[in-house]
Amino acid sequence: MIILAIETSCDETACAIVSAKNGEIKILSNVVSSQIKLHAKWGGVVPNLAAREHLKNITPVIETSLKEAGFTSKDIDVIGVTSGPGLIPALLIGVNAAKTLAYVWQKPLLGIHHIEGHIYANFINEISAISNNQFPNSKQIKNTKTTNYKLQTTNQIKFPILCLVVSGGHTQLVLMKDHLQYKIIGQTLDDAAGEAFDKVARILNIGYPGGPKVSEHAAVHKPKTTNYKLTFPRPMLSKNNFDFSFSGLKTAVLYETKKHPSLLKNKSYVAAVCHEFQQASIDVLIAKTLKAAEKHRPKTIMLAGGVSANTELRKQLGIAITKFIPNTKYCIPAPNLTGDNAAMIAAATFFRFQKMSETQKKSTKENWKKITADANLKM
Ligand code: KG4
Ligand code: ZN
Repeated sequence: MIILAIETSCDETACAIVSAKNGEIKILSNVVSSQIKLHAKWGGVVPNLAAREHLKNITPVIETSLKEAGFTSKDIDVIGVTSGPGLIPALLIGVNAAKTLAYVWQKPLLGIHHIEGHIYANFINEISAISNNQFPNSKQIKNTKTTNYKLQTTNQIKFPILCLVVSGGHTQLVLMKDHLQYKIIGQTLDDAAGEAFDKVARILNIGYPGGPKVSEHAAVHKPKTTNYKLTFPRPMLSKNNFDFSFSGLKTAVLYETKKHPSLLKNKSYVAAVCHEFQQASIDVLIAKTLKAAEKHRPKTIMLAGGVSANTELRKQLGIAITKFIPNTKYCIPAPNLTGDNAAMIAAATFFRFQKMSETQKKSTKENWKKITADANLKM
C-alpha cells in the first residue's frame, strides 16, 4: 500500500510518501519545509505567519514529495493528514490541501491525530528501534554502516507499549494494549517538557528553538571544574501518580538567573543552568516512566515527540531500562523522525486504514467532505 500524508500542525510544512508491505513501513520521500528562521525573531511560532508560509509551501512540498518518490497520483492508495491538535490557521492549510487532493484524485482520506503520528514514527523501518545500549544521534545516522543499530519490522514491537510522549505541546504517558488503543495514564499539569525547554532558552537568551539550544549548552558543562554547582527541583517525584509538572522547574531557572543577571554572559554559568535544568527534566521523565512500567508491566517502552531528539534523554532512559527492567524492549524514533514530519502521519494512516472494514474503507472516499481541523482534537 502506498500512502501520501501531509502535516502542517505547527511550523513545518511536510509531505511524505511511504510504502507498507509485509510488516515493513518504508519511507519513499519525506519532505519537510521548516519555518524556524521566520519564527526565531519572535521567539515562538506566530500562527498567522505560519499559515502564510504553509500556504506558500504546501504545493511545492507535495510536488517534490511525489517527484522524489517517482510517483504520480495514480500510485497513491490512501491520503492521510494531521487534523489536530495544533494551530488552527496552520492545520487548515494541510487539511484543505489533503481534502482537495482526495476529491480530485478520488482517493480515501483519513484525519490523523498529531501525537498518534509521533508514536507511529517508531513503526517506520528507519534505524530506530533498539533494545541494547546503542543510541543513534543525528551525526551517527549519516554513517550507519559502522554502527550496529537494528532495523525493525512493525511486528517486532510487542504490546503492551508504554509510550513517553514529549513534545512542545504534550507530555504524557500513554499505555497501548494494541494498535490505535490509547489510555493516557499520566500527563503534565501545566507546561509540556518541550515548552519548558523553549522557555528556559528564552530566559537564558540562547536562541530558538530552545530544546536543541539547551541541550547544546548542557553538553559543554564540565561538572568537575565548573564554579557553578546548581540544584533545581525534581517536581512531582514524590507524588504517587504518573503526572508531571514543569512550570515550577522553569520558574526555578528564572529565579536563579534573576539573582545573577550579569552571569548570563558567562558561558560556563549558562552551561551549568542548562545542564541542571535538562537533568532535572530527564530525572522526572525517567522516574515516572519506570514507576508506570512497574505498575503496568509493558513489553515495550517507547519514546515519541520532538524532545525525543534529546541525546541525553534517549541515552539515560535506555540505561535505566537496561538496569531496572531489562526484559523490556526500548524503542526510540530515528533521529530524522523525532520532530514534526509527514512520514509519521503516513505510518499512522496505514495502521488506521488497515484496521477498517471494507465498508469503512469505502466511506473514506467521502471524507474530503467531512474532515475538519480541530485545534484540541482528543486521541
Ligand atoms: O514534536 P515537536 O516537533 O512539535 C510539537 O508537536 O510540539 O516538538 C517540538 C519541541 C520543542 O519544544 C523543541 O524545543 C523540543 O521539541 N526539542 C527538544 C530537542 N529538540 C527539539 N527538546 C530537548 N532537546 C532537544 N534536542
Ligand atoms: Zn509534534
